[in-house]
Amino acid sequence: MSEKDKLWGGRFGKATAELMERFNASIGFDRKLLEMDIAGSLVHARALERAGVLTSEELARISEGLEQVRAEFSASGHAFSAGLEDIHMAVEHRLTALIGPVGGKLHTGRSRNDQVNLDERLYLRTGIALIQGRLRQLQGVLADSAEAHLEVILPGYTHLQQAQPILFGHYALALFWMLERDHGRLGDTWKRADLLPLGAGALAGSAYPVDRQFMARELGFSGVTPNSLDTVSDRDFLLEAMAALSILMMHLSRFCEDLILWSSQEFGFVELADAFSTGSSMMPQKKNPDSLELVRGKTGRVYGDLFALLTTMKGLPLTYAKDMQEDKEPLFDAFESVQDCLEVFAGAWATMQLRPARMVAAVDDAALATDLADYLARRGVPFREAHHAVGRLVRFALEAGRPLRGLTLEELRSHSPAFEKDALGLLDLRHSLSLRNIEGGTGPQAVRDQLAQARAALAS
Ligand code: ARG
Repeated sequence: MSEKDKLWGGRFGKATAELMERFNASIGFDRKLLEMDIAGSLVHARALERAGVLTSEELARISEGLEQVRAEFSASGHAFSAGLEDIHMAVEHRLTALIGPVGGKLHTGRSRNDQVNLDERLYLRTGIALIQGRLRQLQGVLADSAEAHLEVILPGYTHLQQAQPILFGHYALALFWMLERDHGRLGDTWKRADLLPLGAGALAGSAYPVDRQFMARELGFSGVTPNSLDTVSDRDFLLEAMAALSILMMHLSRFCEDLILWSSQEFGFVELADAFSTGSSMMPQKKNPDSLELVRGKTGRVYGDLFALLTTMKGLPLTYAKDMQEDKEPLFDAFESVQDCLEVFAGAWATMQLRPARMVAAVDDAALATDLADYLARRGVPFREAHHAVGRLVRFALEAGRPLRGLTLEELRSHSPAFEKDALGLLDLRHSLSLRNIEGGTGPQAVRDQLAQARAALAS
């Protein structure tokens, strides 16, 4: 493209190197901002008319032209030339080609610096809403799964060592609440981003009396940014959302890890559906949990997106610098990756088969040792002493190669005289679980109450 076709070409005597044009262009990725850019321009044009910069006839031509550009550019397979640099220039360039020089009035009192900031905020608003919708879907899957398998017993782990038995419903709802906070966290980030940046201009504020409050209302923002330098300089609103997405991915990734482990031959607690597994090109017997491995893997990618942008922003002098054009690919990548991951994870969870018999059979009965110690403590033995006595009992059973459940009353009493006949009844998984009906605990009643709370959260 020759310099006279460039929207900023006046100052330049010679053409941009073709290499530089390609290097400088963001149109290859910021074309995703088309809808946001057009929406912003339509409102900016109306503000210009209200400010007396455009006549109503000019406003009408610009608005119609913008709609036509939207239609042309959103047609699939539309090719943009790198010389158009970015979506903002491409729109204005095409608009002017369509409606003539009046198209050149659109950029009055505006800079690409406040324009790109607006487009990104609008992208963020849509992106957050999409992710929140997917979060709700997955939470629905988890609540259904908790309800369907509420009383399935499985080992609960700390340090990946068996700790105490838990209910599957309790496990599924653990993720539900993590996602509930992710939903809230993303919503919170929007509260701070929810301000109109237009009017900030390049950095010092527009010299035209465009009504910022009017534009804010029209574009659905709750207010306007208070400082033009801050507005065009910062990308904290994107970083916050990407940090929230990183935390969300961390949550998914840990559950992926559990399910990957649980789908192994050694655990055999779950079997993923064929639809969410893949095979090996060499080993015919293999069925691999690739869906979950990819979600776990993309967690690193989303963290990378966050760190790419944090690193880009570090040390930039105020205000805008072209470095900031590098914000878009990580931003888009983070939002798109998380959307895909939420959908795939929900599909994998909803279709996996549980193996309740394997789960309950895997519970080591030493996992009931805490109940025995609590039993002694309730009978007045100081808990520390009770802990020791039961620890010795566990070692005794281990050395004898016998399960705790097989010990006689005499054997219990030889470790602590406070054991009575009713202690033997404690060595039962359902009984152990029923002791934990405390609010938030894994007892069956507590989990049913929790499920009702989860359903209420979904309905609100
Ligand atoms: N494509 C640019 C970006 O994404 C738009 C802003 C350019 N502003 C400028 N003063 N060169 O950041």
